[in-house]
Amino acid sequence: MARTPDPRTAPPIRWGILGAGGIAGTFADAVAEHTRAQLVAVGSRHRDRAERFATAHHIPTTHVGYRQLVEDPQVDAVYVATPHSEHKEHALLAIAAGKHVLVEKAFTRNAAEAQEVFDAARSAGVFVMEAMWTRFLPHVAALHQVVDAGEIGDVLSLIADHGQLLPHDPRNRLYAPELAGGALLDLGVYPVSFAHDFLGVPDSVTAVGQLTETGVDGQVSIVLGYGERTQASLTTTMWARTPTVAAISGTEGFISVAGSFYAPTSFRLQRHDGRVWTFENPGRKGLQYEAAEVARRVAEGVTESPLMTWDDTIQVMRTLDEVRRQVGVAYPGE
Ligand SMILES: NC(=O)c1ccc[n+]([C@@H]2O[C@H](COP(=O)([O-])OP(=O)(O)OC[C@H]3O[C@@H](n4cnc5c(N)ncnc54)[C@H](OP(=O)(O)O)[C@@H]3O)[C@@H](O)[C@H]2O)c1
Repeated sequence: MARTPDPRTAPPIRWGILGAGGIAGTFADAVAEHTRAQLVAVGSRHRDRAERFATAHHIPTTHVGYRQLVEDPQVDAVYVATPHSEHKEHALLAIAAGKHVLVEKAFTRNAAEAQEVFDAARSAGVFVMEAMWTRFLPHVAALHQVVDAGEIGDVLSLIADHGQLLPHDPRNRLYAPELAGGALLDLGVYPVSFAHDFLGVPDSVTAVGQLTETGVDGQVSIVLGYGERTQASLTTTMWARTPTVAAISGTEGFISVAGSFYAPTSFRLQRHDGRVWTFENPGRKGLQYEAAEVARRVAEGVTESPLMTWDDTIQVMRTLDEVRRQVGVAYPGE
């Protein structure tokens, strides 16, 4: 089967949305437009937010409180779309109610929390996956195909960048240590996960960062080392909009991935023998692919996706933990 089958061919599943924030709205639209899944309920801490979200996204049931959402018998799978600091608690809440769970990236604040969630999922026998949507996009499937086929030879270098000009507002969750803010967990997780996807677990992690006045990382540059001859150079910032491009280079050629490399996009493969190959972007929206992956795997009766395994998520979190240790960012209570 193709790695990114049409999301409309995935079996129906009934979603409950936990947290009526920004990305939850984008997810709801993508699911409604591009899959056969149903959005059956939304849970918010505030009645007015739940009702506004339900009206905007045509969701029949609203819950005030997340417990009520996860205990709703109509819900098969819960999409956790809260700040990073809350992911562990909200994922555990859904797992305890016997629900399958898709948890927004970064999966948790750190690797130890991720392990706790997966241990609970294993005991409960439910499906859990990090919502690292990039892994399920058509251009990423095509990238794996050409890299695995040896089109660029042995991979020696990977570069990836994710910078956004986010509002400079110390009250925003991105600036709040207690909500596990900072560029790394919001934006830098994409380049780090991309490197893990193509190169695996690094042998070494080296990071340099600059912090906000609130003590979270504003921007970070990371070098991951693999063996004697391969490196990934990754950058992230929440202080500037950057080209958000990526490149994978090998002994026989290189691939330039257009910005935004982590969203549906195109790429160009250029071999040293002069051959050139391009992949055209099939569309703008992309969250439906991860949603379809959940529906397919739940229908198969498995608890994890082979494209975003529990171990992959833990390894990415370990790299993020090491980066934060080096740049000097710890969240309260860690
Ligand atoms: N996949 C992507 O492209 C993408 C893009 C952006 C963000 N994200 C990820 O999605 C998650 C949420 O980001 P977002 O930008 O959607 O955030 P957001 O707009 O601030 O929404 C987060 C929601 O979480 C709920 N919440 C629960 N506890 C909270 C607390 N203590 N403080 C604040 N909000 C709390 C709130 O919903 P209620 O008030 O309704 O309960 C809030 O609306 C993060 O993990 C982020 O990294 C992913």
